[in-house]
Amino acid sequence: MSMNYDNRYSEYRRAVEDSFSVFLPEDGSVLVDSMRYSLLAGGKRIRPVMTLAWCNLCGGETASALPGAAAVEMIHTYSLIHDDLPCMDNDTLRRGRPTNHVVYGEYVALLAGSGLYDKALETVLNFGAQYGLSDRRMLDSLKVLCSASGLEGILTGQVLDMKNADLTVTRAYLERVNDLKTASLLSAACRLGAIAAHGDAADLAAADEYGRAVGQAFQIRDDILDVISTGETLGKTPGKDSDENKTTFVDLLGLDGAQREVERLTNRALTVLDRYPDPEFLRTLTVRMCGREA
Ligand code: IPE
Ligand code: IPE
Ligand code: MG
Ligand code: MG
Ligand code: MG
Repeated sequence: MSMNYDNRYSEYRRAVEDSFSVFLPEDGSVLVDSMRYSLLAGGKRIRPVMTLAWCNLCGGETASALPGAAAVEMIHTYSLIHDDLPCMDNDTLRRGRPTNHVVYGEYVALLAGSGLYDKALETVLNFGAQYGLSDRRMLDSLKVLCSASGLEGILTGQVLDMKNADLTVTRAYLERVNDLKTASLLSAACRLGAIAAHGDAADLAAADEYGRAVGQAFQIRDDILDVISTGETLGKTPGKDSDENKTTFVDLLGLDGAQREVERLTNRALTVLDRYPDPEFLRTLTVRMCGREA
């Protein structure tokens, strides 16, 4: 694929967004309405774009990675719906719109989150074969998704993040939280692409190493934006971390120190891409994420 970066990003994005009408069609129920409300609200789609880009990086066909890409965005969206609930970060704005629970009420939002998790796994199971995934690769994809979202991933990360408010937090603690709550899913996104492309153990290890580094950088940049950005640019409420008493890398290192950390992790991720013959798209994505404004 030789088109320029922006066109390629738009193509990947459109492929993922189009797939939602196949993987999660309307059914007239309030539950599916609320799931679609958050899933179709936009957002950068960085994780599914990474899945498709890693699939191409490892020599695979884009289509074979679509169920995994859609699944990873569904799990991400579920984690955002729950993250915004009053019992967690208590947020009212997400992706430029009122949060799911503000529109649908708390119990529907809770179930919409669970529904998106379930739908993510079902998407791989029910559509994998049609998109060219063998049973083996479907199982490998499910394992990757379950471990990134479960006890070795988002769930534990979110518990530790909530506890953060009552603790004197060290750098090691924050690295662990960020690895679990954020980097695990970015790593999963990249590994799903490598799996769809029939990648070998070295590809999976590279996808994990890249995703973990980029994921740490991504969360630190998110914490920086929480301090320096506006609700209009972010599409979510800034200042939440200090409102909720959460310590972040910005508290530990200052704004400049935190951005230097983003740059260090970005460079680490870039060195992984150097092992591949055509890394240009992902190189640009990685560099842009480092200085992103939203
Ligand atoms: C927000 O993720 C949550 C974090 C892990 C920092 P994104 O910044 O990718 O949110 P969307 O998908 O673009 O809305
Ligand atoms: C990431 O942390 C949350 C998830 C892993 C869902 P944040 O709580 O900082 O995410 P935002 O800032 O609300 O998007
Ligand atoms: Mg949170
Ligand atoms: Mg939050
Ligand atoms: Mg944040």
